[in-house]
Amino acid sequence: MRNTTWRAASRAALALTGAGALAAGMAMVLVTPASAGTTLGASAAEKGRYFGTAVAANKLSDSAYTTILNREFTMVTAENEMKIDATEPQQGQFRYSQADPIVNHARTHGMQVRGHTLAWHGQQPGWMQGMEGTALRTAMLNHVTQVVSHYRGQIYSWDVVNEAFADGNSGGRRDSNLQRTGNDWIEAAFRAARAADPGAKLCYNDYNTDNWTWAKTQGVYNMVRDFKARGVPIDCVGFQSHFNNDSPYVSNYRTTLSSFAALGVDVQITELDIQGAPANTYRSVVEDCLAVARCNGITVWGIRDSDSWRASQTPLLFNSNGSKKPAYDAVLAALNNGTTPPTT
Ligand code: XIL
Repeated sequence: MRNTTWRAASRAALALTGAGALAAGMAMVLVTPASAGTTLGASAAEKGRYFGTAVAANKLSDSAYTTILNREFTMVTAENEMKIDATEPQQGQFRYSQADPIVNHARTHGMQVRGHTLAWHGQQPGWMQGMEGTALRTAMLNHVTQVVSHYRGQIYSWDVVNEAFADGNSGGRRDSNLQRTGNDWIEAAFRAARAADPGAKLCYNDYNTDNWTWAKTQGVYNMVRDFKARGVPIDCVGFQSHFNNDSPYVSNYRTTLSSFAALGVDVQITELDIQGAPANTYRSVVEDCLAVARCNGITVWGIRDSDSWRASQTPLLFNSNGSKKPAYDAVLAALNNGTTPPTT
């Protein structure tokens, strides 16, 4: 359980074998080459991390898309296909026909999978939107149990609960039908997930939790501290990290990551995109993750700008034509502990 990425590592080993054989053949010495990865996944693996992306099932037939996916990434998240409306469109009728192709693609190509997401106010199927109280609590727990059991042994980490805290200055929970079933709905979901797959890391995932001074960040921090104190089975916190003008990257991001990690959970950057894709900001995010031992890895929320849910912000690492942007070079260099010239 909780195995680290192996595909990039085995590729690096193959490359070393080739270089070593060549060196031995030509000069009878075995030189250890300076190891600097040439893809996001390989370079992250050298630092003990994964590098992931959101994947949309309907793009797996686009060879330009899969070429980049297979070359660069060691972790995938289904962008929509594991959400509640996709996996339980009618109550009690579970459907994995949208998510399974993504999981199969990942397995075939040696990538790991983040499960996203089990309990959320968003993208609920119609039958759940109209539900409240005990019936909803029971249905939510059944959903968690069924979906986690279906993918048992195949998921690196689950976003068990997504976006349960309110924006603004309250630091409290967001109102939702799930919240109205009782404040313990989050821990109940985590316990059900742990029972269904003891080998998956269980994460709480949210946005606008990057700035250490924000009330929402503190609200989530206090919940995780309480969960750890009471033995609620939580292993990790996901920071979506959709950075834009309203929710910009700030230099205390590293403090946020390290403060959560100090509670005894892993931290993961789960949905990274940055408005305009400034290379310097992408570099800072990578450096912040590398600075925190319990930061397991980084997932960007799409491959090319044209794949982004916020395409007009051009927030990703690849242009719509699939070419690498300056942000890509900055991320790769940061993963390799190198430097790239500052860009403006
Ligand atoms: C987004 C997807 O990217 C879109 O395709 C979909 O229409 C809406 O959801 N936070 C999350 C993700 O946890 O599931 C969201 O994904 C983006 C915000």
